[in-house]
Amino acid sequence: MITLLGSTGYIGQAFAAELNRRGLAFEALTRSQLDYTRFEDFLAYLRRAKPAFVINAAGYTGKPNVDACETAKADTLQGNTLFPAMLGHACAATDTPWGHVSSGCIYSGAKVVEQGVERIEPDLTKPNLREHYRSSIPLSSSIKERAGERSRSEAVFFRGFTETDTPNFSFRSPPCSFYSGTKALGEEAIAGVGRSYIWRLRIPFDEFDNARNYLSKVQRYSKVYDNVNSISHRRDFVAACIDTWEKRVPFGTYNVTNPGAVTTRQVVEAIQRILKPDRSFEFWESDEEFYKVAAKTPRSNCIMDVSKILGAGIKIRSVEEALEDSLRNWQPETK
Ligand SMILES: NC(=O)c1ccc[n+]([C@@H]2O[C@H](COP(=O)([O-])OP(=O)(O)OC[C@H]3O[C@@H](n4cnc5c(N)ncnc54)[C@H](OP(=O)(O)O)[C@@H]3O)[C@@H](O)[C@H]2O)c1
Repeated sequence: MITLLGSTGYIGQAFAAELNRRGLAFEALTRSQLDYTRFEDFLAYLRRAKPAFVINAAGYTGKPNVDACETAKADTLQGNTLFPAMLGHACAATDTPWGHVSSGCIYSGAKVVEQGVERIEPDLTKPNLREHYRSSIPLSSSIKERAGERSRSEAVFFRGFTETDTPNFSFRSPPCSFYSGTKALGEEAIAGVGRSYIWRLRIPFDEFDNARNYLSKVQRYSKVYDNVNSISHRRDFVAACIDTWEKRVPFGTYNVTNPGAVTTRQVVEAIQRILKPDRSFEFWESDEEFYKVAAKTPRSNCIMDVSKILGAGIKIRSVEEALEDSLRNWQPETK
């Protein structure tokens, strides 16, 4: 039996649906039934129920966005750092294997290779980089494969962050949002403790219109912020996470995004082409304008490298395919 924490949340619901689809027995705990954030209570539960695996999809996310975490710092720290640290120790004490949903938002930018020299560039909105990005990476290509095709003397190409790269959008590497800082610290607290997976999710989306869905958000913004990101289809994400356990891939940290990356402009173009909305899309002129008018805390925008999870034999479709499929099967929210 699998124990699922946070099953009432946006990601937890997708885990519950995928476990049901696979016919895997699970128990969904909610804090209102049993306060699994308390060490003694959760340890007693593990000793009594003896789950084969624990999935942690619980945590504190700001609503409607990360700005809300700046004014709820105690909850953010408790939900994303102290709580996973506690879970990790309870699972280690009972030798229970478990998986934790973390986030790719602990990185900013990408690795940029220019004239054969690689450097970390935290800001991909720089005008010259944006131009290179547009001309160099088609939606569907894996950054790594594409990089391999290019000769070292060619001008500029991009690589995503791997699991061995130190987070560069964290309390140890500021600036960062408070939310990202707590997610990075949460990873530090549990990495290597017991038998665990850390699964890094980025900007969830799918075909179900929902205030939490990236594709819904883009359609509802009065003005859109253009940047480059690796993103995760919600079902693809939970399926890949459950696969890591079912296929018994080695414990450790895994980036779990659809291979590739997209600019917000590419997402808007796909929305316009497929959904044909009755509106036009305007973009913020600059980062300066965006942060002055629409955002309080810095946002993470980044490219992730998924070669580790793909190399472990877990299949995830390309970002282009997942995006196209979500928009072609779009299900507007019913009021
Ligand atoms: N959504 C995203 O954009 C995104 C992106 C990257 C990573 N993540 C990570 O994915 C995980 C799940 O996110 P989500 O979007 O599904 O969040 P969500 O919709 O807010 O659900 C989180 C769930 O966690 C439980 N919970 C336990 N302790 C909590 C606490 N201190 N504060 C608030 N809720 C708590 C609640 O379930 P009960 O009280 O019912 O048990 C709640 O339903 C989080 O760790 C988040 O950091 C999310």
